Amino acid sequence: MNPEKILTQHYNPETGDLTGGAKVVRTLKDVRSSFQDQVAVDRILEHENPVLYEVVAVEPGDTPGDLHYGLGILYPGMVGNEYYLTKGHYHETREAAEVYIGLTGEGAMLLEDEETGESRLESLGAGNVVYVPGHTAHRTMNTGNTPLTYFGIYPSNAGHDYGALAERNFRKMLIDEDGTPTLMDRA
Ligand code: F6R
Ligand code: MN
Repeated sequence: MNPEKILTQHYNPETGDLTGGAKVVRTLKDVRSSFQDQVAVDRILEHENPVLYEVVAVEPGDTPGDLHYGLGILYPGMVGNEYYLTKGHYHETREAAEVYIGLTGEGAMLLEDEETGESRLESLGAGNVVYVPGHTAHRTMNTGNTPLTYFGIYPSNAGHDYGALAERNFRKMLIDEDGTPTLMDRA
């Protein structure tokens, strides 16, 4: 064990701050193509470009067997009737799995199997742990009125592949239907 290596970091689930990593901030402009209702996107962007989420990732090592982890904070909000969401990705190393641990708020994860195209919706909020198998695209949505914060823990060689989904998006989307989160086919 390298005595120089910092093994303990500190996080604040209310603010999304985590020591030991750099923060990435994603605004509506960064994620706009993920939303179905582009008229609603334009209407919001006419007067503001809200921050949708922030992620701080800690990468303690890059040798085989190492883990990386990140703290995400996804703010509450809607674009049309679609909940604020993360871009979503496959792992570059397709077999790399991930564990998501919900800390605060209410939300869900949309999982899509790369081979079969099948979708699953899993609850992600305070008290939920979601296992994301390899070969599975994953996206997080905030279905509540408060920030959704969560940890993701993944193999150091997982990497992120945003390209495939940037082109065709997920097959399903989560919308608010009379106050109920409802999974629909994306047009
Ligand atoms: C890491 C991971 C999460 C996401 C975070 C933001 O593998 O799944 O830490 O990176 O939820 O989502 P994306 O990366 O899709 O913008
Ligand atoms: Mn991931």
